Amino acid sequence: MIDLRSDTVTEPSQEMRAAMASAPVGDDVIDVDPTVARLQEHTAEMLGKEAAMYMPSGSMTNQVAVRLHCKPGDEFICESGCHIYNYEQGAFAQLSQTIPRMIDGPGHVMHLEQLVDKIRPNDEHAVQTRLLCLENTHNKGGGIVLPYEGVAEMCEWAHKNGLTTHLDGARLFNAVVASGKSAADWAQHFDTVSICFSKGLGAPVGSALVGNQSHMAQMRRHRKLFGGGMRQSGIIAAGALYALTNNIDRLADDHQTAQIIADQIAKTDGLEIDTKNVHTNIVIFKVGSGLGTAADFCAAAKDEGAWMFPFSAEHVRAVTHLHITQEDAQAAGKIISRTAEKLSAVTSA
Ligand SMILES: Cc1ncc(COP(=O)(O)O)c(C=O)c1O
Repeated sequence: MIDLRSDTVTEPSQEMRAAMASAPVGDDVIDVDPTVARLQEHTAEMLGKEAAMYMPSGSMTNQVAVRLHCKPGDEFICESGCHIYNYEQGAFAQLSQTIPRMIDGPGHVMHLEQLVDKIRPNDEHAVQTRLLCLENTHNKGGGIVLPYEGVAEMCEWAHKNGLTTHLDGARLFNAVVASGKSAADWAQHFDTVSICFSKGLGAPVGSALVGNQSHMAQMRRHRKLFGGGMRQSGIIAAGALYALTNNIDRLADDHQTAQIIADQIAKTDGLEIDTKNVHTNIVIFKVGSGLGTAADFCAAAKDEGAWMFPFSAEHVRAVTHLHITQEDAQAAGKIISRTAEKLSAVTSA
């Protein structure tokens, strides 16, 4: 089975497991875990920020950021397809009593012109707009890398207008490899950045929220409040450190395998894809109505040996990662084409 459901399905290598097994540890709640401390220092340094805090998941780092930047009743601006709004159970409302102001970015890319009139007036009838959240790479956008100048422009506008800025950079390192801009280049525009170690980087657990020293005491309180205080977490932090040291450059391989799959899809009747929008390791394609729903397509492709998730009624998502070789990608592309042919034969029979 070629598992293209997500880049979170990877298992740690023997070398990563060895690093985890030998990691020095301590109680990171009552004291400091030395491996967690090393990971946090290294992460902050890579992003050009003062400090970082290790947490169990990307959802938690995003939600701690929302809590950090906003008070109950505050509003944050985000793109309507973003993870924070769509895939975190509305935690911004459940946990922090905040509301999102969603903007439909064309192809999930917001532009400055769309933001300029979106800050609420200072009026007792209105919520207060506090925060701008961006996502890079953008998952629902098919792993697209946001235009660098556009990001810089939007963040500059936000800061000038008294907003803070947060980046959901669950796949920031895919953007780094695809854009040639460093993590610090991207991060400089944001007050806080969330990165995930458990996606393309291939570590088993964890994310970090990166920001300035002044954020740390509050971040630590919110992490504990949301249940993210961990004890001998150096065991898992060692996997994340290993991933940061060894697994960034190889993300280029995942971008190549995604392109192989996308190119094959582009040649297949009944499927639609714009290969120019495949920037990184995520491939989203549309299943023509003649072939049934995206769920039908995924079920049929799984029977042939390629496992993908439906991403809407008519879209399928395939994600490449460190277990997918070029041969796997070629085979997956052929399975996808064969599935389309079979479904087309069934529906036209
Ligand atoms: C863009 C983005 N942000 C945040 C998350 C949340 O990460 P986690 O699953 O670790 O909570 C994900 C997970 O897929 C994601 O794709």
